[in-house]
Amino acid sequence: MSLNNDTSTPFLSDITALRDNARKSLGDGAVVAESYGGDPEKAIEILQSVLATELVCVLRYTQHSIAAAGINSGAVKAEFAEHAREEQEHAQWVAERITQLGGTPDFNPDTLTSRSASQFAPGKNLVDMIKENLIAERIAVAHYQELIRYFGDNDPTTRVLMERILKVEEEHADDMHDFLVAHEGQPGDKH
Ligand SMILES: [Fe+2]
Ligand SMILES: [Fe+2]
Repeated sequence: MSLNNDTSTPFLSDITALRDNARKSLGDGAVVAESYGGDPEKAIEILQSVLATELVCVLRYTQHSIAAAGINSGAVKAEFAEHAREEQEHAQWVAERITQLGGTPDFNPDTLTSRSASQFAPGKNLVDMIKENLIAERIAVAHYQELIRYFGDNDPTTRVLMERILKVEEEHADDMHDFLVAHEGQPGDKH
């Protein structure tokens, strides 16, 4: 079967060209530059900042899960710890995608907070920690929404990854908002 016998389907690449491209520059990683719709360098740069953001989230949630104290802090501590694990998973996925695109994931702790969209804020008390996490999650949600639009059809794999992470970040934001309402008793401004 040939993919390109019918010239009325110009969106399908010639199978020979696809095979030739796939054989080129094997050191570059999983994605062949010629077939990538966007700018791989730019994509790697963006994903490095996403990686830094996720790593800062891992550190913040881990610190909070240990430092949280007070009456009724048990459930919150457990949730912080679970979020820390999920942020770690996101960091892993993003780092793997950077590698697939031919980049080297940047785990350098020296420059982590300057490259991250979210901040490392220890939080003075339990409510403070919940607020800091809600802010960080809102930043993450807005950031991922933007990135989904950016990657669009040019890089569907990265877009789908961003969508998968966004879903979890929205759940995180919701969890933090629920805790805030439970601890401050201010229902009503959820949406
Ligand atoms: Fe995350
Ligand atoms: Fe999150």
